[in-house]
Amino acid sequence: MTQDELKQAVAREAIKYVVDDAWIGVGSGTTASFFIDELAKMKHRIKGAVSSSEKSTARLKGYGIEVEELNNVDNVPVYVDGADEVTKWGAMIKGGGGALTREKIVAAVARKFVCIVDASKLVPVLGKFPLPVEVIPMARSYVARELVRLGGQPAWRMGFTTDNGNLILDVSGLAIEDPGKLETTINGIAGVVTVGLFAHRGADVTLVGTDRGVETLTPIA
Ligand code: A5P
Repeated sequence: MTQDELKQAVAREAIKYVVDDAWIGVGSGTTASFFIDELAKMKHRIKGAVSSSEKSTARLKGYGIEVEELNNVDNVPVYVDGADEVTKWGAMIKGGGGALTREKIVAAVARKFVCIVDASKLVPVLGKFPLPVEVIPMARSYVARELVRLGGQPAWRMGFTTDNGNLILDVSGLAIEDPGKLETTINGIAGVVTVGLFAHRGADVTLVGTDRGVETLTPIA
């Protein structure tokens, strides 16, 4: 199967987690886009969606799916999103597409996070994929120096501005043995808006697309 076919397979599987007559949280990226395509087929069963990026909002609206502002929604039973890397414990690196801040907010509100990935994203240790960190523009150099002190090599994602008007540093060279600890540490640097480590609020269920079919991983609490 191609990578796109694997993404499509997990997107289809994720529909089983969508709760009828409720708001669904929708992530960003190519895998989440396949999910939106599947969601469109059953859109009459849901109230609508809360979205984590302008791109996903446009795709949802293109299908006639109502997109509600998160501030007006107090109950999001399920959030479905992709990841750049995920461990079997549900810790993730996200933000390859730059939507990490809104993704983290919607994930925080949601009761269940369903992560959908093709098998290439499942890793034993996070960090091969450069870790995205969203920063306030004036703090870019300071945050970069602090990330170097932590052992990383930050690179400014040139020419890219987030939906929130901020910048992204992509940090390579980190072998992230303790994702929760590093998430806390980077969150503590002044000028950091969001680190693309999703460990404190990781995935509750990870659907992995493989040539043998979709595998379901649920980390033991
Ligand atoms: C967007 O900011 C990201 O967090 C995506 O969820 C992540 O990069 C996965 O994207 P793909 O499904 O396109 O690989």
